[in-house]
Amino acid sequence: MKDFIYSYPTKVYFGEKAAAKALPAELAKVGKTVMLAYGGGSVKKSGVYDEICGYLRDAGKEIVDFSGIMPNPTYSKVQEGAALAREKKVDFILAVGGGSVIDCCKIVAAQAVTEKDIWQMEFKDHEYPTAFLPMGAVVTASGTGAEMNNGAVITNEETNEKAGVLGAHAGFAVLDVNYTMSLPAKQVLSGAFDTLSHSMETYLGSPRDITLSDEIAEAVMCNVIRNIRLLLKDINDKEARTELMWASAMAENGILKIGKVTDFQAHQIEHQLGAYTDCNYGQGLAVIHPVLYRHMYKDGVKQFARMAQKVWEIPAAGKSQEELAEAGIQALADFVKEMGLPSTFTEMGITDKSVLKKVADTCNLTAGCCKKLSREEVLEILEECW
Ligand code: NZQ
Repeated sequence: MKDFIYSYPTKVYFGEKAAAKALPAELAKVGKTVMLAYGGGSVKKSGVYDEICGYLRDAGKEIVDFSGIMPNPTYSKVQEGAALAREKKVDFILAVGGGSVIDCCKIVAAQAVTEKDIWQMEFKDHEYPTAFLPMGAVVTASGTGAEMNNGAVITNEETNEKAGVLGAHAGFAVLDVNYTMSLPAKQVLSGAFDTLSHSMETYLGSPRDITLSDEIAEAVMCNVIRNIRLLLKDINDKEARTELMWASAMAENGILKIGKVTDFQAHQIEHQLGAYTDCNYGQGLAVIHPVLYRHMYKDGVKQFARMAQKVWEIPAAGKSQEELAEAGIQALADFVKEMGLPSTFTEMGITDKSVLKKVADTCNLTAGCCKKLSREEVLEILEECW
């Protein structure tokens, strides 16, 4: 295990009526002007918006609406939010939504308090923001785990990059499964696959010998698979959705990453696919994972073989490590089908094959991955996903 420092800034309010506990207590600690940030309107349809406005009014806050944050949020939307926060002298940002809204707000929180351009700062000058407007998050779509970390995935439309930008941590997060029950089944399942993907990508990082973090990751993966199967029987199974909500946060709150360098190669490929196609995030991952793993596993055979046994419950008797690893990857591919997720880019509705080379040429190649992939091999992988 590598050396680490562990400390966590996000206070989690989890469970039924969590907002009623969280918001009066937390809003009392912040200034008067609150930016209420949300997406394309689902929160208004579901009634969550009215409920949150009620808490804000009861706390005597002035509300600055910041709406229309799109899935795969853009850098220009970040700039719009930062300009609004400055103009209205916002004291606090409350993000109400899924990963896209929360991520956008993390960078608004940073951009609002600096004259420097955050993209330039992070990607050209390799400097990271240290001052932020304070923010909180109310989760309406789980899966990404965005509520408990300070990484934000933002699409820069000018440079055609979808990249991880470091921003604010939410000081608190409200996780009440009732706020997610209006989410369409397709989004519930693609979000749950994102959680599985985070756990797998962390597990398959380095060091390659098993650590406590990996054993916790095995438990998270088993939990996610079991609860997804419950949802396949009844998408409104609240207990399963509740478990998945916490699994989502667990997979991205740093616990599984303690002492590890993560792999995250599938995410890096998916980010650039998203930059060029604006595709659904979890679906892209579902297509990429099995194909990518068939290219990688021989370089990390021990880890893949252990995952096959511990997570996919494949008996080891009579199998070599390679055979076990292959069986595990096949179990993952079968699970993608069982979930009704796409197995090819064409099934996802992507029609322009020319994007594949652009994705291969621009995606990050990660340090934690057991195999150092070449751009040619990434292109091969992408073509196999077609
Ligand atoms: O915009 P509205 O109208 O709110 O509709 C949204 C959106 O269309 C809808 N939705 C959200 N809550 C709902 C709801 N519809 C009905 N009822 C509800 N309760 O769902 C759609 C998708 O929302 P979005 O926030 O885009 O989904 P998700 O949570 O999957 O977030 C995806 C984004 O998170 C990033 C992805 O790259 C992508 O941009 N990620 C962030 C990560 C992080 N910060 O750690 C890690 C992830 O792997 C991921 O990369």
